[in-house]
Amino acid sequence: MLTSLVLNKMHSNNARLISLNILYGVFKEDKQPNKLLNELSNTKAMSKSDIAFVFKMVYGTIQYKIYLEYVVNKIIKPNKTNYKIQLLLWLNLYQIKFLNTPQYSVNNEAVEVAKIIDNNLAGFVNATTKKLANLDLWKVDIKNNQNKIPLEYGFPFWLYKSLEQDYSKEIALQIVQSSNNQTMFSFRVNENKISQIEFEKLYKHKFNLKKSKIAKNCYLTDFNIINTQVFDQGLVFIQDETSILAVELLDLEKQSKVIDMCCAPGGKLSYIASLVDKKNLVDAFEINENKKNIIYSNLNRLGINNVNIEFKSALNINKKYERILLDAPCSGFGVLKRKPDIKLKKFSKKDMDALYQLQFDLLQKGFEHLLDEGILVYSTCTINKKENQNQIKVFLDNNKNAKLIFEKQFFGFEGNNNGFYIAKIKKLKK
Ligand SMILES: C[S@@+](CC[C@H](N)C(=O)[O-])C[C@H]1O[C@@H](n2cnc3c(N)ncnc32)[C@H](O)[C@@H]1O
Repeated sequence: MLTSLVLNKMHSNNARLISLNILYGVFKEDKQPNKLLNELSNTKAMSKSDIAFVFKMVYGTIQYKIYLEYVVNKIIKPNKTNYKIQLLLWLNLYQIKFLNTPQYSVNNEAVEVAKIIDNNLAGFVNATTKKLANLDLWKVDIKNNQNKIPLEYGFPFWLYKSLEQDYSKEIALQIVQSSNNQTMFSFRVNENKISQIEFEKLYKHKFNLKKSKIAKNCYLTDFNIINTQVFDQGLVFIQDETSILAVELLDLEKQSKVIDMCCAPGGKLSYIASLVDKKNLVDAFEINENKKNIIYSNLNRLGINNVNIEFKSALNINKKYERILLDAPCSGFGVLKRKPDIKLKKFSKKDMDALYQLQFDLLQKGFEHLLDEGILVYSTCTINKKENQNQIKVFLDNNKNAKLIFEKQFFGFEGNNNGFYIAKIKKLKK
């Protein structure tokens, strides 16, 4: 989509127009921003700094969309305004308010973009963008004072309310107020290729590495290590601290019989495979065959071969295991910093009910295939109690030989990381 929209019109170097087209794809065509942005990076049609600027504008506008729309709608008639022009105004406000770009400079560029969209609207964009610099306009003035902070952070009211009900007002507010923060890069060392000690010796100073307090094989850095040499050579795998912890909690031994029930894109699977003996094949399921390439590209980069993946539902599990990882499909509300589009998704009750049921069924099926004294780790990247603590509570009520030996809800504001839930369950002999 991008290539045709952008390059054929010979505006390939116009970062604002490209950002606008990507946002159009996200908001109007339900496309994933990550995919469109990766496509853009791969075209190599722009300089690295322009691409970085597009990433910032796209993610920033999605993060604050609810707020930007609220402010812009004070001075336009949304029903009568071309949607692309509305997007342009959101982008303009984002740059003026959040990137501190001077109004005149934003305006000059915006008028050029407006001329491409519809020459007749350039004057309207010019006049409206001038108004967007008015600080009074930025104020949130709504009847329900409770929703003021969520609105300022571009956080949906319904999600805020549900977090408040699940936990407390304080926790809900902290989640909201940290939801647009930039996290550090966290990664683990691929000990298939290099030991942690050796890696630290070589790169501790170069990347100003900090050791994670959550997981054993985990480092944090402000340095963008994507596509650096250590990344390309498969010496590291970018992964959240809590995801690494989920695998470490499996207490793997070299000969453990282990399965990863939902494995794409292979982050946890590759860690599991590197912890067991190279001759010990790790089983895995993944229902979505479209994710085959990304899984194998990750495994190949890391030099991992001891996996046996079946592309079908994990409900087909038919062997018994000593260790089971169920990193379940979930709503994803824990990773809004990385995927802000999730908070704008419309989840129907029917979809959510189907998701809860699937998590429940996978958990039950997995546990039935766990050997006595075995360990099952259930994890999700969400902060929604129904998918986490409540799911486990019902499971424990139904399975008297299941013992919860570790449970933690990470919210993502504690160490400026992401929200994640882990429950470690042991199967007792009946
Ligand atoms: C949270 S992701 C797994 C992430 C992975 N464990 C990792 O660390 O890279 C959940 C995955 O479950 C897959 N999935 C959904 N339903 C499934 C099912 N019934 N059986 C197997 N996989 C399923 C989804 O396609 C998705 O790739």
